[in-house]
Amino acid sequence: MLFKTTEAHEAFREKVRAFAEEEIKPIAFKLDQGNEFPHEAVAKMAELGLMGIPYPKEYGGAGLDVLSYAIAVEELARVDGGAGVILSAHTSLGAYPIAGFGTEEQKKKYLVPLAKGEKLGAFGLTEPNAGSDASGTETTAVLEGDHYVLNGGKIFITNAPIADIYVVFAVTTPGIGSHGISAFIVEKAYEGFEFGDHYDKMGIRSSSTAELIFNDVKVPKENLLGHEGEGFKIAMATLDGGRIGIAAQALGIAQGAFEHAREYALERVQFDMPIAFQQVNQFKFADMAIKLRNARFQVYSAAELKEAHESYGMEAAMAKAYASEIALEVCNDALQIYGGNGFLKGMEVERAYRDAKITTIYEGTNEIQRIVIAAHILGKAPK
Ligand code: CAA
Repeated sequence: MLFKTTEAHEAFREKVRAFAEEEIKPIAFKLDQGNEFPHEAVAKMAELGLMGIPYPKEYGGAGLDVLSYAIAVEELARVDGGAGVILSAHTSLGAYPIAGFGTEEQKKKYLVPLAKGEKLGAFGLTEPNAGSDASGTETTAVLEGDHYVLNGGKIFITNAPIADIYVVFAVTTPGIGSHGISAFIVEKAYEGFEFGDHYDKMGIRSSSTAELIFNDVKVPKENLLGHEGEGFKIAMATLDGGRIGIAAQALGIAQGAFEHAREYALERVQFDMPIAFQQVNQFKFADMAIKLRNARFQVYSAAELKEAHESYGMEAAMAKAYASEIALEVCNDALQIYGGNGFLKGMEVERAYRDAKITTIYEGTNEIQRIVIAAHILGKAPK
């Protein structure tokens, strides 16, 4: 399937771009320097209806399509990679498992405030011994009467500790690997739920990332998502969609760096002409533009497939791997065009260069994306 944006998509892009330019761009450097979460901007995103873009209006969402959501993440990331992932982790990872696998009661109680942006969502899968091998989850959930008792911890959780609602994966039946994992909706206010280190990251510093710690946290039985043992599949299905968000984030970071480099190269004169017209840089711009176009095609195409309820896991993994890898290349070229000026703090290309790196790592490293893609092409390796 080929992607096609409509006039409505482009009008929506203009709306998000105007918001990002006015509300986030002016504070992006300060947020980056201060490792600071943009509370006010996120509240304004909720007012604009950006926190539940692909969810039905009856559940508090905007009732738009997955492509609109990808465009919003792209436009936020174009000015600040951190802002892009705040929206992506909230929408794709925090809200999606509830929208996709929740009961009517769970949707009313949790999806509605998430989609309206009254609450912020997060996804707790990764652990010290369960990174790429998500089936190695060690956090446990034991049923005691009318609630499960959670013990253990999670690391690298985007939107923690700011988020209010967490979808958390824990082992309910030990010893049977991925089939023993279940998914739970956990509220920040539950007793025994605490937060560890707020990480001091290389990039996407306006997004918060922290550890989750569960000490005998009582989670009501009705907060089990799906059935016991379905957690791993819920996590994998969620990540399929999440990867479209990260691909869009990478695309936006690269687009922003490209535009800055273009502006700079047209103004910067060396050897009696703007450096944009020196062949070495003309070729760089041509290559950057080719990569951006290919990445945009892949991201929008995966979004379109998801919207059409067609198989999209492989295409999402391809989009995520490709967009993140070209983002690193484009940001590197953009910084190179700036020369020494690009190496200075406060320059957008310097921040973009740092922000881009994580997109090759989270929501599955690009090595994992290749495992997912190969499994779609070749099937599972024989045991
Ligand atoms: N949808 C539904 N079910 C799926 C699925 C999918 N996409 N992928 C796999 N499954 C099912 C399989 O069908 C299988 O079911 P059966 O056992 O019933 O046949 C079961 O899940 C196990 O599948 P595998 O044997 O393929 O699982 P595996 O243990 O070999 O692992 C993996 C597969 C792809 C490597 C997986 O572990 C993985 O994706 N790892 C990466 C984890 C990851 O992306 N973490 C990111 C954390 S979140 C994050 O980063 C957020 C952030 O900061 C912003």
